[in-house]
Amino acid sequence: MLLHIPGLFAKDEVQRIREALEHADWADGKITAGFQSAKAKHNLQLPEGHPLAKEIGAAMLERLWKNPLFMSAALPHKVFPPLVNCYTAGGSFDFHIDNAVRQPKGSIERVRTDLSATLFFSEPEDYDGGELEIQDTFGTQRVKLPAGDMVLYPGTSLHKVNAVTRGARYASFFWTQSLVREDSQRALLFEMDGAIQQLTQDMPEHPSLIRLTGTYHNLLRRWVEV
Ligand code: NI
Repeated sequence: MLLHIPGLFAKDEVQRIREALEHADWADGKITAGFQSAKAKHNLQLPEGHPLAKEIGAAMLERLWKNPLFMSAALPHKVFPPLVNCYTAGGSFDFHIDNAVRQPKGSIERVRTDLSATLFFSEPEDYDGGELEIQDTFGTQRVKLPAGDMVLYPGTSLHKVNAVTRGARYASFFWTQSLVREDSQRALLFEMDGAIQQLTQDMPEHPSLIRLTGTYHNLLRRWVEV
């Protein structure tokens, strides 16, 4: 399931973030790539633990933890702290699948990458190319979102970033280990949660709401891993 989460950051916030990023010290993106994907990856990245990356990452996670769409779709257990990257001057990242397990620098805890997310900090009209292409069962999806918006997609999917041929594409990306490992089960729960939320608004007194909510939790209990 591919999910677009709009407006995590307001326009003035992304502008401030972009200005800070324009003056940052960037490193080669290969620093966090595996042996194979290093050959496909041509971009810039803030080093893991860079103060600016930490600040942006903390602000993102704070927003996400309060975002009902993200919580309902991702059912997050833990995350690999967000990293920040920049594609410019023809930079691209060819088709690959992300590593299954990530270990944050200096941490003993490992994160299984059930979900990948990209938050855009540049406006689509400020650069050419740079689409995130994700292959899923419905074909290839091309994603290029307004600044402040995020896309969430299964970590199992083949994806790439097209070459940026004009301007710069700033973004943040991170991985989530979900309480529910399987994308199909998460998608079912998301759908059911959405329907329950809608019914709660439209018919808050309906007695079946309690039974439906109970069934949601009983399904979740069946599938959850903690
Ligand atoms: Ni990737």
